[in-house]
Amino acid sequence: MDPENICYLNGEWLPLAEARISPLDRGFIFGDGVYEVVPVYRRKPFRLAQHLARLERSLGEVRMTNPFDREGWQALIGRIVVSSPEDDQIVYIQVTRGVAKRDFAFPAGIAPTVFAMTSPLKRPSPQVREEGLHTVSREDERWARCDIKSTSLLGAVLARQYAVDHDAQEVVQFRDGWLTEGSSSNIWVVRDGIVSAPRRDHRILEGIRYGFMEELCAANAIPFTERRIARSEVTAAEELLITAATREVLPITRLDGQPVGNGQPGPTYRRLRAAYDAAIESL
Ligand code: PDD
Repeated sequence: MDPENICYLNGEWLPLAEARISPLDRGFIFGDGVYEVVPVYRRKPFRLAQHLARLERSLGEVRMTNPFDREGWQALIGRIVVSSPEDDQIVYIQVTRGVAKRDFAFPAGIAPTVFAMTSPLKRPSPQVREEGLHTVSREDERWARCDIKSTSLLGAVLARQYAVDHDAQEVVQFRDGWLTEGSSSNIWVVRDGIVSAPRRDHRILEGIRYGFMEELCAANAIPFTERRIARSEVTAAEELLITAATREVLPITRLDGQPVGNGQPGPTYRRLRAAYDAAIESL
């Protein structure tokens, strides 16, 4: 990332390398904040309304006031997008509870810390689209409110490093034998041509691509179900897919060293991939 990049911090626009926060910021001290990651194609944010709705929800769940209304966020994101030389970008926004003497309970009368930056978006290469991702399974050791897009991400950090340590690109996590999600992605199981996703509850983050995949399935007459998914179904899947802002939709071709299905990207992936690309094209 270019340190000359302009970022937004508490009402100021300044080079990222010059941005400073207090060590007493509760985001730094407690991970007491929430965030969003918005993909931008040809300078147009993708599903921005949904990202802003999720931010609003995350803020509400941790009892923080949204510092901006929709128009305010749109203007801020619009300005950061034009500040970058890149057409395809990833915009990161974070709101923390603010700066106060270290004390666990909410401090009274402090202003939130609001931060936004942009970085180049590298879309998945033709190679990764064809080779797919290698994954390892892992017990989900994160907290019990994974539905909140919180900056307390130690569980995700440890999970992703576990993948790296096992020569894999992502983990497939299970809680008590039931599929949850990746360290920073949602996971999809395909069997008999039916796409299944774990239920949207406190065990997973509802990705913006969750609702989007549901729409793509409906538009392409691909059956979709939302339900509890046992580990045995994941290991017997014909196809496994992964979605996230930065990964769009990709096939998982290996799990724990074993090929998923025949080890190649499958037909359902190809249809959803084509539909995803078409949606980006028509933005
Ligand atoms: N992570 N689940 C988790 C735990 C995530 O962190 C993410 C995204 C997703 C997918 O959500 P979406 O479709 O909205 O990207 C699911 C982002 C990319 C991140 O933390 O960088």
